[in-house]
Amino acid sequence: MKQYCLSRVRLCVFAGVVSSGATLLNYGTPLATAAEPATGAPATASEKITDHTRMMGTAKADCKKCHDSEVAEGMKAVHFLSAEQRLYKFDGNTKKYADALGIKQTELLSTAVCTDCHGTVAVEAGQTKVISGVSCESCHGAAGGEDGWLNTHQSYHASMKIPREQETEEHKAARHARCDTAGMIRSTNLYGLAKNCYSCHLVGNEKLVAAGHKAASVFDLVSWSTGEVRHNFFMNKEVNAEAPTLWTETEKGTVANRRRMKFVVGMFAQVETSLRLLAPATDGAVIKQFRTPLRDAAEMLQEVDTPETVAAGELVEDFVPSRTGKKPEDGEEYLSAADEIAEHANAFVKAYDGSQFADLDEIIEETPAHYSQQYKQKYGEEN
Ligand code: HEC
Ligand code: HEC
Ligand code: HEC
Ligand code: HEC
Repeated sequence: MKQYCLSRVRLCVFAGVVSSGATLLNYGTPLATAAEPATGAPATASEKITDHTRMMGTAKADCKKCHDSEVAEGMKAVHFLSAEQRLYKFDGNTKKYADALGIKQTELLSTAVCTDCHGTVAVEAGQTKVISGVSCESCHGAAGGEDGWLNTHQSYHASMKIPREQETEEHKAARHARCDTAGMIRSTNLYGLAKNCYSCHLVGNEKLVAAGHKAASVFDLVSWSTGEVRHNFFMNKEVNAEAPTLWTETEKGTVANRRRMKFVVGMFAQVETSLRLLAPATDGAVIKQFRTPLRDAAEMLQEVDTPETVAAGELVEDFVPSRTGKKPEDGEEYLSAADEIAEHANAFVKAYDGSQFADLDEIIEETPAHYSQQYKQKYGEEN
């Protein structure tokens, strides 16, 4: 039997029946070719991203040794504080949501329903537990395991320590391929990064949303990734650049082009994820909350004059929920629409580099870099 899931939303479709609580992650690959249920070790790169057995944690992996500025920046963000603030304290809305789902205080740190989005979960001494808030590996993929990406990603030669400039093209290509297979999400993989954000920032658990938890952050990839989340220090530890510096150098990319690509790719990811979450949804109140993210993205995509964006925008129009509920009602139609969106998105990132979309700059500039209230109070609007 095939099992289709978005791990963090804990909604899985078993041959059309909705169930929850399994741990298979399956975004990225079209559902038609999805892997069989995760009974053993995860097989595909996308399943490895949130695999608890591969999660090392920022301290144990010692990311700081080579990325001290990134780690310092990461610690300031609400992401990193989220386990502490939402899971370690059992009061306010945390208690409200937990009560609605029948989760006791003692279970809060062990139930994936909350920890998948608010924390980093790893296996330590045989025990699966929350080791921190949202961390480096939540966004770049779990780094551990025998064939994990931690060592591979920074080694420029099989046996010698050589500087980056001396790495051969062949070695670089092989290194990147190994990282990708190991489930690392790198700066070049814009659609992978975007979908990963949305796997937490759109919430499909109907009971949770019915209890008052947001279904959708007011998220757009450009402004939400350029505020408190930004940490582009690779080439210069003192300066937090506006685009990833390693990418700028190796791909000859520009800040303006990256923003434009992010803007469009974010729309694609918003649409694909919303469609997957809507597929099994039955609660009218929850369904309605996906109206705005879908409608807005559909309109915006059609503003961008490429065959991929226009086709995607037109497709989505038919799936924007009405005030009375889902239309069409059949979940399978949402899933195949989501697959189609993924195909358009992947074709889009291959075909363009952003230089074509200068017209978008005006729209993009309307939304400033996003910082949480907490960050603003402590550090102001700069990082
Ligand atoms: C021993 C040093 C070292 C450690 C430890 C290390 N890194 Fe790196 N990292 C590097 C180097 C070197 C590069 C640049 C690789 C290149 O030139 O492609 C890099 C690049 C990266 C990139 C950008 C890759 C890209 O192509 O966009 C990410 C993301 C990253 N590291 C995350 C991490 C995380 C997360 C950890 C901890 C789990 C970590 N690194 C631990 C040295 C290290
Ligand atoms: C699919 C991911 C996801 C799941 C599952 C999830 N959260 Fe959240 N939660 C988020 C995101 C994203 C935000 C921030 C939303 C924003 O501000 O845009 C958030 C915000 C919150 C907040 C602060 C805002 C508020 O509503 O008061 C609390 C408290 C919270 N979550 C508790 C929980 C608890 C308790 C659980 C488990 C019962 C849970 N969450 C499950 C993603 C998730
Ligand atoms: C919320 C998701 C998220 C988290 C958490 C996160 N990253 Fe990133 N990281 C990204 C994104 C997105 C980019 C590409 C940035 C851009 O497009 O501006 C990136 C880029 C990078 C780069 C490339 C920077 C450059 O100048 O080329 C490195 C290195 C990196 N991250 C390391 C880390 C480390 C180490 C941590 C933990 C301290 C971490 N990241 C936490 C999402 C994240
Ligand atoms: C593992 C789940 C997860 C992933 C992946 C993730 N986020 Fe988040 N994000 C959260 C949660 C949970 C919160 C709320 C934290 C809190 O208030 O406790 C949050 C909060 C934020 C905030 C602060 C919002 C506010 O106003 O309080 C920003 C900005 C943000 N995320 C951007 C991003 C971006 C950009 C990406 C992808 C590059 C991303 N996130 C990926 C879970 C995630």
